Amino acid sequence: MTLTRPAPAKINLTLEILGRRSDGYHNLRSVMQAISLYDVITVEDAPFPRISVAGGSPDAPADERNLVYRAAQALDQSTGGGHGARIALEKRIPVGAGLGGGSSDAAATLLALNHLWGTGLSTESLMEIGSTLGSDVPFFLTGGTALAEGRGERLTPLPPPERLWLVVAWPDFHLSTPAVYARLDDRGIEGQASDRSATLASMLPGGSVETVAAAIWNDMEQAAFDLCPTAGVVRDALLERGALAAMLSGSGSAVFGLAEDEAEAHSLAGKMKALGTWAFACHTVPLPYEGES
Ligand code: C5P
Repeated sequence: MTLTRPAPAKINLTLEILGRRSDGYHNLRSVMQAISLYDVITVEDAPFPRISVAGGSPDAPADERNLVYRAAQALDQSTGGGHGARIALEKRIPVGAGLGGGSSDAAATLLALNHLWGTGLSTESLMEIGSTLGSDVPFFLTGGTALAEGRGERLTPLPPPERLWLVVAWPDFHLSTPAVYARLDDRGIEGQASDRSATLASMLPGGSVETVAAAIWNDMEQAAFDLCPTAGVVRDALLERGALAAMLSGSGSAVFGLAEDEAEAHSLAGKMKALGTWAFACHTVPLPYEGES
Protein backbone atom coordinates (compact mmCIF):
# COMPACT_ATOMS: atom_id res chain seq x y z
CA MET A 1 0.00 0.00 0.00
CA THR A 2 1.16 3.58 -0.74
CA LEU A 3 -0.22 6.63 1.07
CA THR A 4 0.39 10.28 0.21
CA ARG A 5 -0.26 13.22 2.54
CA PRO A 6 0.31 16.93 2.17
CA ALA A 7 2.19 18.46 5.12
CA PRO A 8 1.16 22.14 5.32
CA ALA A 9 3.25 24.97 6.74
CA LYS A 10 2.08 27.24 9.56
CA ILE A 11 2.34 30.88 10.39
CA ASN A 12 2.05 32.43 13.82
CA LEU A 13 -0.64 35.11 13.68
CA THR A 14 0.53 36.05 17.18
CA LEU A 15 3.61 34.93 19.13
CA GLU A 16 4.11 36.16 22.69
CA ILE A 17 7.15 34.97 24.63
CA LEU A 18 6.26 34.93 28.31
CA GLY A 19 9.55 33.89 29.90
CA ARG A 20 12.42 31.43 30.08
CA ARG A 21 11.87 28.11 31.86
CA SER A 22 14.23 26.02 33.97
CA ASP A 23 14.36 23.34 31.22
CA GLY A 24 15.78 25.88 28.73
CA TYR A 25 12.56 26.28 26.77
CA HIS A 26 10.42 29.41 26.80
CA ASN A 27 6.77 29.65 27.73
CA LEU A 28 4.81 31.18 24.93
CA ARG A 29 1.33 32.01 23.77
CA SER A 30 0.59 31.87 20.06
CA VAL A 31 -2.30 31.72 17.63
CA MET A 32 -1.02 29.24 15.05
CA GLN A 33 -2.56 28.87 11.62
CA ALA A 34 -1.99 26.27 8.88
CA ILE A 35 -1.54 27.56 5.31
CA SER A 36 -1.73 26.13 1.79
CA LEU A 37 2.04 25.92 1.28
CA TYR A 38 2.94 22.27 1.76
CA ASP A 39 5.48 19.47 1.52
CA VAL A 40 4.31 16.06 0.31
CA ILE A 41 4.98 12.83 2.22
CA THR A 42 4.54 9.43 0.60
CA VAL A 43 4.82 6.24 2.67
CA GLU A 44 4.97 2.69 1.40
CA ASP A 45 5.31 -0.72 3.07
CA ALA A 46 8.84 -2.10 3.27
CA PRO A 47 10.19 -5.17 5.01
CA PHE A 48 11.32 -4.71 8.63
CA PRO A 49 13.81 -3.42 9.77
CA ARG A 50 14.11 -0.97 6.94
CA ILE A 51 12.88 2.58 7.54
CA SER A 52 14.29 4.69 4.72
CA VAL A 53 13.71 8.30 3.73
CA ALA A 54 14.31 9.60 0.21
CA GLY A 55 13.99 13.06 -1.28
CA GLY A 56 14.32 16.00 1.06
CA SER A 57 16.58 18.85 0.06
CA PRO A 58 20.17 19.93 0.73
CA ASP A 59 18.79 21.83 3.76
CA ALA A 60 16.74 18.86 5.00
CA PRO A 61 18.79 15.79 4.05
CA ALA A 62 16.96 12.47 3.93
CA ASP A 63 18.89 10.67 6.65
CA GLU A 64 18.64 9.80 10.35
CA ARG A 65 18.76 13.48 11.30
CA ASN A 66 15.53 14.17 9.43
CA LEU A 67 12.51 14.57 11.70
CA VAL A 68 10.58 12.31 9.31
CA TYR A 69 12.95 9.45 10.04
CA ARG A 70 12.81 10.13 13.78
CA ALA A 71 8.99 10.23 13.68
CA ALA A 72 8.85 6.84 11.97
CA GLN A 73 11.33 5.38 14.44
CA ALA A 74 9.42 6.80 17.43
CA LEU A 75 6.09 5.38 16.21
CA ASP A 76 7.69 2.00 15.52
CA GLN A 77 9.27 1.87 18.98
CA SER A 78 6.15 2.94 20.83
CA THR A 79 4.04 0.29 19.08
CA GLY A 80 6.23 -2.72 19.77
CA GLY A 81 8.67 -2.44 16.84
CA GLY A 82 8.88 -4.65 13.79
CA HIS A 83 7.64 -2.18 11.17
CA GLY A 84 9.31 -1.08 7.95
CA ALA A 85 8.55 1.75 5.54
CA ARG A 86 9.90 3.57 2.54
CA ILE A 87 9.20 7.28 2.94
CA ALA A 88 9.54 9.88 0.20
CA LEU A 89 9.69 13.56 1.11
CA GLU A 90 9.04 16.32 -1.41
CA LYS A 91 10.21 19.62 0.12
CA ARG A 92 8.55 22.86 -0.89
CA ILE A 93 8.47 24.66 2.47
CA PRO A 94 11.69 26.63 3.11
CA VAL A 95 13.83 25.19 5.93
CA GLY A 96 14.92 27.30 8.91
CA ALA A 97 12.14 29.72 8.08
CA GLY A 98 9.78 29.56 11.09
CA LEU A 99 7.13 27.86 8.96
CA GLY A 100 7.13 24.53 10.82
CA GLY A 101 8.04 22.45 7.75
CA GLY A 102 10.05 19.79 9.58
CA SER A 103 7.41 19.51 12.32
CA SER A 104 4.62 19.21 9.77
CA ASP A 105 6.55 16.52 7.87
CA ALA A 106 6.93 14.60 11.15
CA ALA A 107 3.20 14.92 11.94
CA ALA A 108 2.20 13.80 8.44
CA THR A 109 4.55 10.82 8.78
CA LEU A 110 3.00 9.82 12.13
CA LEU A 111 -0.52 10.04 10.66
CA ALA A 112 0.35 8.17 7.46
CA LEU A 113 2.33 5.38 9.18
CA ASN A 114 -0.31 4.96 11.91
CA HIS A 115 -2.64 4.14 9.02
CA LEU A 116 -0.19 2.11 6.92
CA TRP A 117 0.99 -0.01 9.85
CA GLY A 118 -2.52 -0.34 11.31
CA THR A 119 -1.15 0.72 14.71
CA GLY A 120 -4.38 2.56 15.54
CA LEU A 121 -2.94 5.09 18.01
CA SER A 122 -5.30 7.87 19.11
CA THR A 123 -4.61 11.49 18.20
CA GLU A 124 -3.63 12.07 21.88
CA SER A 125 -1.04 9.28 21.75
CA LEU A 126 0.34 10.60 18.45
CA MET A 127 0.52 14.07 20.02
CA GLU A 128 2.51 12.66 22.94
CA ILE A 129 5.00 11.08 20.54
CA GLY A 130 4.97 14.26 18.45
CA SER A 131 5.83 16.51 21.39
CA THR A 132 9.03 14.50 21.98
CA LEU A 133 10.06 15.30 18.38
CA GLY A 134 9.47 19.06 18.49
CA SER A 135 7.31 21.70 20.15
CA ASP A 136 5.31 22.41 16.96
CA VAL A 137 4.54 18.80 15.96
CA PRO A 138 1.31 18.44 18.04
CA PHE A 139 -0.20 21.48 16.28
CA PHE A 140 -0.02 19.72 12.92
CA LEU A 141 -1.83 16.70 14.36
CA THR A 142 -4.83 18.72 15.43
CA GLY A 143 -5.83 21.93 14.10
CA GLY A 144 -5.85 24.34 11.35
CA THR A 145 -6.19 27.16 13.90
CA ALA A 146 -5.17 26.82 17.55
CA LEU A 147 -3.97 28.68 20.61
CA ALA A 148 -0.62 27.18 21.61
CA GLU A 149 0.70 27.55 25.16
CA GLY A 150 3.46 26.04 27.31
CA ARG A 151 6.44 25.47 25.02
CA GLY A 152 3.96 25.29 22.14
CA GLU A 153 2.64 21.78 22.71
CA ARG A 154 -0.44 22.69 24.82
CA LEU A 155 -3.19 23.39 22.30
CA THR A 156 -6.69 24.77 22.37
CA PRO A 157 -8.47 24.48 19.02
CA LEU A 158 -9.89 27.78 17.75
CA PRO A 159 -12.57 28.37 15.14
CA PRO A 160 -10.84 29.21 11.84
CA PRO A 161 -10.79 32.75 10.46
CA GLU A 162 -12.50 33.35 7.16
CA ARG A 163 -10.08 32.30 4.42
CA LEU A 164 -7.21 34.80 4.62
CA TRP A 165 -4.93 35.33 1.60
CA LEU A 166 -1.29 36.03 2.25
CA VAL A 167 2.18 35.99 0.76
CA VAL A 168 5.01 34.12 2.42
CA ALA A 169 8.35 35.70 1.56
CA TRP A 170 11.68 34.18 2.55
CA PRO A 171 15.10 35.85 2.44
CA ASP A 172 16.89 32.54 1.64
CA PHE A 173 18.56 32.53 5.04
CA HIS A 174 18.29 29.67 7.55
CA LEU A 175 17.70 30.95 11.06
CA SER A 176 18.35 28.62 13.99
CA THR A 177 15.42 28.67 16.44
CA PRO A 178 17.67 28.33 19.57
CA ALA A 179 19.87 31.19 18.27
CA VAL A 180 16.86 33.51 17.95
CA TYR A 181 15.63 32.57 21.45
CA ALA A 182 19.16 33.25 22.79
CA ARG A 183 19.20 36.65 21.08
CA LEU A 184 15.79 37.39 22.58
CA ASP A 185 17.14 36.54 26.05
CA ASP A 186 20.09 38.91 25.43
CA ARG A 187 17.71 41.67 24.44
CA GLY A 188 15.87 41.10 27.71
CA ILE A 189 12.41 41.68 26.34
CA GLU A 190 10.84 38.48 27.58
CA GLY A 191 8.23 38.18 30.25
CA GLN A 192 6.00 41.00 29.14
CA ALA A 193 2.38 40.49 30.08
CA SER A 194 0.04 41.05 27.16
CA ASP A 195 -3.18 39.72 25.79
CA ARG A 196 -2.50 39.87 22.07
CA SER A 197 -3.28 36.20 21.46
CA ALA A 198 -6.52 36.43 23.44
CA THR A 199 -7.49 39.53 21.45
CA LEU A 200 -6.90 37.77 18.15
CA ALA A 201 -8.62 34.58 19.33
CA SER A 202 -11.68 36.61 20.34
CA MET A 203 -12.08 37.76 16.70
CA LEU A 204 -12.53 34.19 15.49
CA PRO A 205 -14.44 32.90 13.69
CA GLY A 206 -14.93 35.40 10.98
CA GLY A 207 -12.57 38.30 11.78
CA SER A 208 -12.10 40.35 8.63
CA VAL A 209 -8.63 40.52 7.11
CA GLU A 210 -8.40 44.17 8.25
CA THR A 211 -9.10 43.30 11.91
CA VAL A 212 -6.69 40.35 11.81
CA ALA A 213 -4.08 42.62 10.17
CA ALA A 214 -4.38 45.04 13.09
CA ALA A 215 -3.91 42.22 15.64
CA ILE A 216 -0.91 40.21 14.34
CA TRP A 217 2.12 40.28 16.62
CA ASN A 218 5.50 38.58 17.11
CA ASP A 219 7.76 39.17 20.15
CA MET A 220 10.67 37.46 18.31
CA GLU A 221 10.72 39.81 15.35
CA GLN A 222 13.50 42.19 16.46
CA ALA A 223 15.71 39.34 17.72
CA ALA A 224 15.35 37.58 14.34
CA PHE A 225 16.00 40.81 12.42
CA ASP A 226 19.20 41.31 14.50
CA LEU A 227 20.47 37.95 13.20
CA CYS A 228 19.00 38.29 9.70
CA PRO A 229 18.58 41.97 8.76
CA THR A 230 17.37 40.91 5.28
CA ALA A 231 14.19 39.54 6.89
CA GLY A 232 13.44 43.10 8.04
CA VAL A 233 14.08 44.38 4.52
CA VAL A 234 11.69 41.73 3.15
CA ARG A 235 9.02 42.75 5.68
CA ASP A 236 9.35 46.41 4.67
CA ALA A 237 9.21 45.44 0.97
CA LEU A 238 5.92 43.55 1.57
CA LEU A 239 4.44 46.61 3.30
CA GLU A 240 5.69 49.03 0.62
CA ARG A 241 4.14 46.83 -2.08
CA GLY A 242 0.68 46.78 -0.53
CA ALA A 243 0.50 44.13 2.21
CA LEU A 244 -2.16 45.10 4.78
CA ALA A 245 0.28 44.01 7.49
CA ALA A 246 3.49 41.98 7.51
CA MET A 247 5.17 40.03 10.28
CA LEU A 248 7.91 37.48 10.93
CA SER A 249 6.60 33.91 11.23
CA GLY A 250 7.72 32.03 14.34
CA SER A 251 11.47 32.51 14.85
CA GLY A 252 11.90 33.40 11.14
CA SER A 253 13.44 34.02 8.75
CA ALA A 254 10.24 33.90 6.66
CA VAL A 255 7.86 36.84 6.76
CA PHE A 256 4.19 36.81 5.80
CA GLY A 257 2.15 39.67 4.40
CA LEU A 258 -1.65 39.71 4.56
CA ALA A 259 -3.44 40.57 1.32
CA GLU A 260 -6.90 41.94 0.63
CA ASP A 261 -7.88 38.97 -1.56
CA GLU A 262 -6.56 36.25 -3.89
CA ALA A 263 -5.76 38.63 -6.77
CA GLU A 264 -3.83 40.97 -4.44
CA ALA A 265 -1.90 38.03 -2.97
CA HIS A 266 -0.79 36.84 -6.42
CA SER A 267 0.08 40.40 -7.47
CA LEU A 268 2.12 40.94 -4.27
CA ALA A 269 3.94 37.61 -4.70
CA GLY A 270 4.80 38.62 -8.28
CA LYS A 271 6.26 41.94 -7.07
CA MET A 272 8.36 40.19 -4.42
CA LYS A 273 9.65 37.65 -6.96
CA ALA A 274 10.57 40.55 -9.26
CA LEU A 275 12.88 41.74 -6.45
CA GLY A 276 14.54 38.32 -6.51
CA THR A 277 12.89 37.21 -3.25
CA TRP A 278 11.38 33.74 -2.78
CA ALA A 279 7.62 34.36 -2.46
CA PHE A 280 4.47 32.25 -2.45
CA ALA A 281 0.81 33.34 -2.52
CA CYS A 282 -1.35 31.08 -0.35
CA HIS A 283 -4.28 31.04 2.05
CA THR A 284 -5.24 29.77 5.50
CA VAL A 285 -6.48 26.16 5.62
CA PRO A 286 -8.21 23.89 8.11
CA LEU A 287 -6.60 20.54 9.05
CA PRO A 288 -6.63 17.84 7.89
CA TYR A 289 -5.66 19.43 4.61
CA GLU A 290 -5.96 17.49 1.38
CA GLY A 291 -3.78 19.76 -0.77
CA GLU A 292 -4.46 21.41 -4.11
CA SER A 293 -3.44 20.55 -7.64
O1 C5P B 1 10.95 22.03 20.34
P1 C5P B 1 11.95 22.34 19.29
O2 C5P B 1 12.90 21.20 19.04
O3 C5P B 1 11.33 22.84 18.02
O4 C5P B 1 12.81 23.55 19.83
C1 C5P B 1 14.07 23.88 19.32
C2 C5P B 1 14.78 24.81 20.28
O5 C5P B 1 14.12 26.08 20.31
C3 C5P B 1 14.80 24.35 21.74
O6 C5P B 1 15.89 23.52 21.99
C4 C5P B 1 14.92 25.67 22.48
O7 C5P B 1 16.25 26.15 22.46
C5 C5P B 1 14.10 26.62 21.62
N1 C5P B 1 12.70 26.74 22.10
C6 C5P B 1 12.45 27.47 23.23
N2 C5P B 1 11.14 27.60 23.66
C7 C5P B 1 10.13 27.03 22.96
C8 C5P B 1 10.38 26.30 21.80
C9 C5P B 1 11.69 26.16 21.38
O8 C5P B 1 13.36 28.01 23.87
N3 C5P B 1 8.87 27.20 23.41
